Amino acid sequence: MSTAAAKTQLVKKEIEHLASTALTADELMQGMVKKLNQRMLKYNWVGFYLLESVPGQPPVLVLGPFVGAMTPHTRIPLNQGICGAAASSGKTVVVHDVTSDPRYLACSIETKSEIVVPVFVRGKVVGELDIDSHFPSAFGPDDQELVEYCARLLGKQLEKFRP
Ligand code: SME
Repeated sequence: MSTAAAKTQLVKKEIEHLASTALTADELMQGMVKKLNQRMLKYNWVGFYLLESVPGQPPVLVLGPFVGAMTPHTRIPLNQGICGAAASSGKTVVVHDVTSDPRYLACSIETKSEIVVPVFVRGKVVGELDIDSHFPSAFGPDDQELVEYCARLLGKQLEKFRP
C-alpha cells in the first residue's frame, strides 16, 4: 500500500471513531471538517453545504460547518458552481485545475483544485462536502474514496434524525 493510501486509511478510522461518538449530525460535521483539515495537509478549505428546500422556491445550497477562510459563497443555487453541479447530478465532481473549469465559483485566489461529494439521505441529495486545495490535482482516487466515505457516514447519521 502506498504511503498516501495508508494515510487515508488511518484518517478513515479516525473519522469512523468520530461518527461512532458524535451525538448529532452537526457535531459530526464539525468534527469531520476539523479532522480532514488537520490531518490531510492539502485540504485547505473543508466545508459542508446543506440543501435548503422551501416550498415554492428553488432549492439552494447553504453553507454549513467549515474550516478555512470565510467564503463569499454562502448560498449557491443548484445551477451554479462546482457545488451546484455535484448536488444537481448527485455525483462526485473532481476539478484538478479550477482555472480550466468555467463552472468554478472562486472562494480564494489560492485555490487550485477542488472536490465536491454529495451527501444522500435515503437516496436523495441533502447536502455535500466541499474541499478546496492550494495545490493543483490534490485529489486522487484515495482522496475521493476518503471524502465519499465521510459523506456516506454523515448520510447514515442524518438518516437517524430525519424520519
Ligand atoms: N468553488 C465552489 C464554491 C464554494 S467555495 O469553494 C467554498 C464552486 O465552484 O461551487
